[in-house]
Amino acid sequence: MVWPFPLGRKARMAVFASGRGTNLEALLQAFPKGHPLGEVVLVVSDNPQALALERARRRGVEALALPWRGRRAFEAEALGLLEERRVDLVLLAGFMRLLSPGFVEVWYGRLLNIHPSLLPDYPGLGVHRRVLEAGEKETGSTVHFVDQGMDTGPILLQGRVPVLPGDTEAVLEARVLHLEHRLYPRAVALLLLGLAFPPPEGLPGLLGEEAARAFQALSPREKPLYLRAWALLRAWGKEALAGPAFLGQGGEWGRGAFLAAHLLAQDHPVLRAEVASLPEAVRREVEASLHRVESFL
Ligand code: GAR
Repeated sequence: MVWPFPLGRKARMAVFASGRGTNLEALLQAFPKGHPLGEVVLVVSDNPQALALERARRRGVEALALPWRGRRAFEAEALGLLEERRVDLVLLAGFMRLLSPGFVEVWYGRLLNIHPSLLPDYPGLGVHRRVLEAGEKETGSTVHFVDQGMDTGPILLQGRVPVLPGDTEAVLEARVLHLEHRLYPRAVALLLLGLAFPPPEGLPGLLGEEAARAFQALSPREKPLYLRAWALLRAWGKEALAGPAFLGQGGEWGRGAFLAAHLLAQDHPVLRAEVASLPEAVRREVEASLHRVESFL
């Protein structure tokens, strides 16, 4: 299987943003010039008035407006720019245009989006209003690989926040936005470290028939946990255990991988304590992997 990340060098990232750009700001803060994992080298907007452009310029990052004159023109220019600037990863952050299948195909696996809901629920616009109207008790945000649909690609990472009595759209939006500012940099770090990837083709050959079937039967929200566990086993030189681990037969290495995979997405005091009960060799790998990711955030 070809894993594009880790690159073995600093990644060059571009952010596409249409508006105020608070997620862009969080990414610029998380990956400034000189960051060992990668840096944001280019910001592109379809809207010349976007505050996002101003935020990038203030931090000395190249910021270009490609005013919207239709999808074909925008994408042709954007593709040229990404190649010229030798960009490795494109991050959509409040980019409110749909990219064409041709663009997405070229960048698949290296093109992420953030959406303010627990996908696959509430794709599209007006999310917080719809969440409140439906009486949801919980909402969140999703970083996902972009595919050809709107907010449909494989999930990389999700974060959750409660919906509380008396919440208004504005309150909920602010709460989710605050979550997003932590979630997006974490998702990018996991990707750049090779700890996240979209479900690859040819799963039966990679995992075995039964494990591949078990994986395919998972819900879209469960899959990223399994993929992280797989990536961790691979990083620990135990990739042969990925198939068995998917079937709950990965022994202590499988348990360590799933604990770490969980903790990489969200801290959990009980799971942290459980790590201490793992056999020494497994515990050491789990702790080193957790520490490694945290050290970049
Ligand atoms: C963010 O909440 C992002 O999730 C959402 O737009 C907001 C942009 O805020 N994106 C979408 O709805 C995409 N479907 P920002 O400009 O302050 O980062």
